[in-house]
Amino acid sequence: MNTALVTGASAGFGQAICRKLIADGYKVVGIARREDKLQNLAKELGSNFLPLQLDITKKDAVESILLQLPQNFQPIDILINNAGLALGLQPAYEADYADWETMINTNIIGLVHLTRQILPGMVERNFGYIINLGSVAGTYSYKGGNVYGATKAFVKQFSANLRTDLLGKKIRVTNIEPGLCGGTEFSTVRFHGDEKQAAAVYQDSLFITPEDIANTVSWLVNTPAYFNINSLEIMPISQAPAGLTVVKEAK
Ligand SMILES: NC(=O)c1ccc[n+]([C@@H]2O[C@H](COP(=O)([O-])OP(=O)(O)OC[C@H]3O[C@@H](n4cnc5c(N)ncnc54)[C@H](OP(=O)(O)O)[C@@H]3O)[C@@H](O)[C@H]2O)c1
Repeated sequence: MNTALVTGASAGFGQAICRKLIADGYKVVGIARREDKLQNLAKELGSNFLPLQLDITKKDAVESILLQLPQNFQPIDILINNAGLALGLQPAYEADYADWETMINTNIIGLVHLTRQILPGMVERNFGYIINLGSVAGTYSYKGGNVYGATKAFVKQFSANLRTDLLGKKIRVTNIEPGLCGGTEFSTVRFHGDEKQAAAVYQDSLFITPEDIANTVSWLVNTPAYFNINSLEIMPISQAPAGLTVVKEAK
């Protein structure tokens, strides 16, 4: 039975991915900071799920927890770098610098910690799959997307560069790049707990669900071993890149 490690298992995509992979017959290590949410998921998913409370921004903690993984949850064959967040939607000249640091520390540095720890084992075994959760924000700019979009551009390019380093090895890398997705805590986190502002993002719009992303992950890991989807951009039909903006009287 293969084992997957999913970061951000306490909510949104990560939780749905854990549920789907357990249903598909994998063992799953689920990582997040909120212990109570992880324990509830563990009760639901049973003994093939291992909840691990961990802040992925803490390099030493990541290293020591991965070294202490129970034997029956080793080796990690699938790494799903899903934990991440957007904070704020202010223009760059008004944004909270601490928010920027948190996004960089989580979306870039946390993802890099996990990857650097787990990848050597995959290379040794010449087997593995890394799935990163990027975003359309890594490709298309939008107002207030400043550092969030830039962290996801990092994830996109890091995924592509991993593919290059792993060329000829039986290790696959995919960057999933979702657009508007509801049913997660993403916007509540972005607006620092303002549920009303978060709900307005999805009101009267069709959106992708966490289950759609989980089904996509399930499909990816079941594609033939010679097959690599480099990146996968997913939007609801309510969303599209809609052209450049021209300001007529820029001052
Ligand atoms: N929803 C969207 O519209 C959307 C679109 C494109 C891309 N994405 C990306 O998809 C991923 C998942 O988003 P989501 O919508 O599922 O968000 P979510 O519902 O807010 O879930 C984010 C998860 O990340 C975990 N997390 C955050 N910081 C962490 C840290 N320092 N250490 C460990 N875990 C941490 C959270 O758990 P704890 O708080 O318990 O630690 C939570 O489980 C993110 O990378 C996001 O950027 C989302």
